[in-house]
Amino acid sequence: DAHKFIAIDGPAGSGKSSVSKAVARTLGFGYLDTGSAYRALAWHVLDQGADTDDPETVRAAASAFPLTLGLDPDERTVLVGDVDVTEAIRDPRVSGAVSGVARVPEVRAQVNEMFRRLVAESSYPAVVVEGRDITTVVAPDAPVRILLTAAPEVRAARRAGELAGENAAAVAAALHKRDASDSAVVDFLNAAEGVEVVDSTELDFPQTIDAVLTVIERIQ
Ligand code: C5P
Repeated sequence: DAHKFIAIDGPAGSGKSSVSKAVARTLGFGYLDTGSAYRALAWHVLDQGADTDDPETVRAAASAFPLTLGLDPDERTVLVGDVDVTEAIRDPRVSGAVSGVARVPEVRAQVNEMFRRLVAESSYPAVVVEGRDITTVVAPDAPVRILLTAAPEVRAARRAGELAGENAAAVAAALHKRDASDSAVVDFLNAAEGVEVVDSTELDFPQTIDAVLTVIERIQ
């Protein structure tokens, strides 16, 4: 039941989170940041002092994972149990560990089911769902499927700008490392058949939103 999905994939620093959120607000749709589920699980494993690169540990943590994730683009609180991890999951320590967690196939299957259920049960007419494998695995039958890309230098520069004060070269290195491990699991650097590419390299934020809205209007 993929008709409620607006599927948007892309690499880190492509701007997909801020763009997807803005598009959802503009259209009165829900917004689901699937990366935050993987981040929250990585946070949870780290919080237990356990190894995020051990599949067995990660599977065990995922099987009893009390995650709360909403679809309101203006209310982005993420809870693990009753702990508010909204800020903590953006920590570079979590970013560095998240690929290990996301690599475990059973974990992916489990969170994908949760995403499909969240969207199906929501009262929104549609939900902008962003991640790495939404257009290909989570909702390959979605009416709107977009790959948001940007040149690697541009993505690194945007990410460095977000994390003011941090060393830009270190940010770029961490981002490329994460993209390399992530793209070994799912290909989000090339568009699958039927997926529309929006390249934001030469676009500013409002122009990127417009480009995505244009694709949605054309298809829907
Ligand atoms: O989108 P974001 O950068 O917050 O995603 C965090 C991590 O979650 C990614 O680096 C990737 O390892 C994982 N992820 C994934 N599949 C998705 C979304 C995120 O594997 N659909």
